[in-house]
Amino acid sequence: MRTQQTSLATPTFDLNLRWGRDVYPELGSGPIPVEPCISEDYFRLEQERIFRRVWLCVGRVEQVPKWGDYFARDIAGRTVFFVRGRDGVVRGFHNICSHRGNKIVWDEAGCSRKLMCKFHGWTFDTEGRLKGVPDEKMFSDLRKSEHGLIPVATDTWEGFIFANLEPNPAQSLSDFLGEYGRRMSGFPYGEMSHCFSYRAELNCNWKIALDAFSEAYHVGVVHRRAFPGQFSGRINPLSHLPEVRLYRYHRSCIVYRNPEFRPPPVAAHISKFRTSPPAGSRRQPGQELPPDVNPTRSRSFAFELTGIFPNILLHITYGNWFTHQFWPVAVDKTTWEGRLHLYPPKNAAELFSLEALNIMTRNAWLEDTGTMEATQAALASGVKKYFVLQDQEILIRHSYKVIEDFVGYYSGNGAATA
Ligand code: FES
Ligand SMILES: [Fe+2]
Repeated sequence: MRTQQTSLATPTFDLNLRWGRDVYPELGSGPIPVEPCISEDYFRLEQERIFRRVWLCVGRVEQVPKWGDYFARDIAGRTVFFVRGRDGVVRGFHNICSHRGNKIVWDEAGCSRKLMCKFHGWTFDTEGRLKGVPDEKMFSDLRKSEHGLIPVATDTWEGFIFANLEPNPAQSLSDFLGEYGRRMSGFPYGEMSHCFSYRAELNCNWKIALDAFSEAYHVGVVHRRAFPGQFSGRINPLSHLPEVRLYRYHRSCIVYRNPEFRPPPVAAHISKFRTSPPAGSRRQPGQELPPDVNPTRSRSFAFELTGIFPNILLHITYGNWFTHQFWPVAVDKTTWEGRLHLYPPKNAAELFSLEALNIMTRNAWLEDTGTMEATQAALASGVKKYFVLQDQEILIRHSYKVIEDFVGYYSGNGAATA
């Protein structure tokens, strides 16, 4: 898709660019139907045509550092687990025993170099091969090589583990991520290994939660106490987006930072003692961003807010990255996971800085998640038929378009692929 950049470093920078009408008019400017957020039929089609068909980020390689480490995930009605093999490769498998279908792993995460079913004791290795069958001679003509665990297509990008439930995915992960993946590569995701994570079950559709984190229009209202003056100011009072880039499936924008912001004491401490790259890193603090993210190295850059279709937001900035992910459970139920990653602290001042940043971030995320259930409850009444979006909410408009391209609820012709 077309991209548009504006320079933050020169007076020509246009904070009043109407991203929809001026730059991406093909997305239209009309209202967006509410139905996809409250319809059981739409939810079922999303599960079939999106969540069982496209590449989904399921975790990080750091979650499974050693041979036999695994974690499990529920995805669109399937339970899948990911395990690091003896050869170091992370593989995904359906969590179903090849004998009569019992579960193989029972915990959310663990370590096991021999995977044994608790029903009759069939055992599998970490590559999914069937290795042991008690009383094997009582089976007629059992060829163990044909009864390994059912694999799930799994690949990695920049340490993120992705899976695709299609037996033969139509696209490689690399093609799926495309230009987005190339542009966001090279950031030291793995070096920022200190992680704070949160999870909540929210009574709302997954898109209501996703949308609430996909614009900066709400910042001056929802976060007026958490971040006064940080993301808006004299130059940009309404947190307009300095840059937007839309791809075929994915999306990205810069969230504005007020360069005139004078932080209160705790925020100043967080900034002064923020954690830095580990010993041996080739990166200097403040040099982490890939070349085409904040290309002018503007001081008005807070972070790059990006959306990887369909259900994860990945943000990168100097010294940290964070994600929000939204797992649909029912039309009005979503599991939200927030993760904040930073360089590990090297001393007490850095530890304090890191904990303080975590608390500030957590408070903001509580403010964000606090809007979602009320929105869903009101929409579920069916009284309101459409959302009204403005030009600064372009990422949300793009998301609904890509989702509908796959679902085809209105066109009757969905399941868009490469
Ligand atoms: S169901 Fe797994 S060993 Fe029988
Ligand atoms: Fe927010």
